[in-house]
Amino acid sequence: MTRKTVRIAMNGVTGRMGYRQHLVRSILALREQGGLDLGDGTVLWPEPVLVGRREHALKTLAERHGIEHFSTDLDAVLADDSVDIYFDAQVTSARGEALRKAIAAGKHLYTEKPTATGLDGALELARLANAAGIRHGVVQDKLFLPGLLKLKRLIDGGFFGRILSVRGEFGYWVFEGDWQDAQRPSWNYRSEDGGGIVVDMFPHWEYVLHELFGRVKSVQALTATHIPQRWDENGKPYDATADDAAYGIFELEGGAIAQINSSWAVRVNRDELVEFQVDGTEGSAVAGLRDCRVQHRSATPKPVWNPDIPATEVFRDQWQEVPDNGEFDNGFKAQWELFLKHVYADAPTTGTCRPAPAASSSPNWA
Ligand SMILES: NC(=O)c1ccc[n+]([C@@H]2O[C@H](COP(=O)([O-])OP(=O)(O)OC[C@H]3O[C@@H](n4cnc5c(N)ncnc54)[C@H](O)[C@@H]3O)[C@@H](O)[C@H]2O)c1
Repeated sequence: MTRKTVRIAMNGVTGRMGYRQHLVRSILALREQGGLDLGDGTVLWPEPVLVGRREHALKTLAERHGIEHFSTDLDAVLADDSVDIYFDAQVTSARGEALRKAIAAGKHLYTEKPTATGLDGALELARLANAAGIRHGVVQDKLFLPGLLKLKRLIDGGFFGRILSVRGEFGYWVFEGDWQDAQRPSWNYRSEDGGGIVVDMFPHWEYVLHELFGRVKSVQALTATHIPQRWDENGKPYDATADDAAYGIFELEGGAIAQINSSWAVRVNRDELVEFQVDGTEGSAVAGLRDCRVQHRSATPKPVWNPDIPATEVFRDQWQEVPDNGEFDNGFKAQWELFLKHVYADAPTTGTCRPAPAASSSPNWA
């Protein structure tokens, strides 16, 4: 086995996603498993170079995890020829500029979503990256959730017959920050800082719908800012200028219709923080982050509408659990592995499902 070191500039690793999911659960986890076996006698050994604005925070992280290199100078890191890949998990508003610099420096690119807060910005980045001839990818972690992998298995096995509709419920109550701290960073609630639930969640819905059910042909959404004032990390009140709920309808190629509610102003009365119900001619399923339950056409009850009597059946008990039938790795790590294989082993596929799109057409993998 030859060991090939891959130096990856990781920007935004002091943040929630950058630290927990990408650094600890993906890159450091890959090192703990001995690197990534490319299957051709090579093992990739990822070496993170932490990048950020606060030297002290980076130093603390580097020391905690035995990481040798960190820097507050992005330009210098990008000018370093030994760094192959640039990864970005910064706040959304800081992403475009950093990605443009990394593309200009000829680095391969892997980034959190969204690449931009509007279509023009996203297309510009995708075109720049394609023109530079680099490999580039955007995080699509939800495809690797056990619940959605089970859903994909059902689709591939023909369980649903013709899929008619998909209904998604995503959300939970995000505290305003006054009498209880908010559990999400305050920039998410200011549109001038790249916040908003559409910008945050619709990138996920696009690839989930596309990969599982068909390309999104049209989207309509009513957005709202239900909570107009919030309190930030320092306890200071601020105006919430971004949408905190979106009620969307998506028309899909193949004829299915998806409706997805996304909200940071709902209280959870579901089994999981996100759930999708899929109804097809032959059966239905409800999938969450981990679990998936089904009801086949042959086991469908025949309720009769009669408001004068109490419900005669416990409808939720009439569904059957889909078994795991396998082990599920962390989705972020699984996608890092795919991306690294895409760069270093020329792996031809994207995500879990679709073949690599033409380089000119996709902001995701090329
Ligand atoms: N894939 C997912 O499921 C998922 C989930 C949450 C967030 N995200 C995305 O990840 C990115 C980071 O989100 P997060 O929740 O980790 O945010 P966060 O606020 O916890 O972290 C933001 C990071 O960006 C850095 N940063 C750089 N420039 C900054 C600036 N001008 N102001 C403030 N911070 C700055 C911070 O130091 C920190 O390291 C966002 O683009 C978000 O859309 C993805």
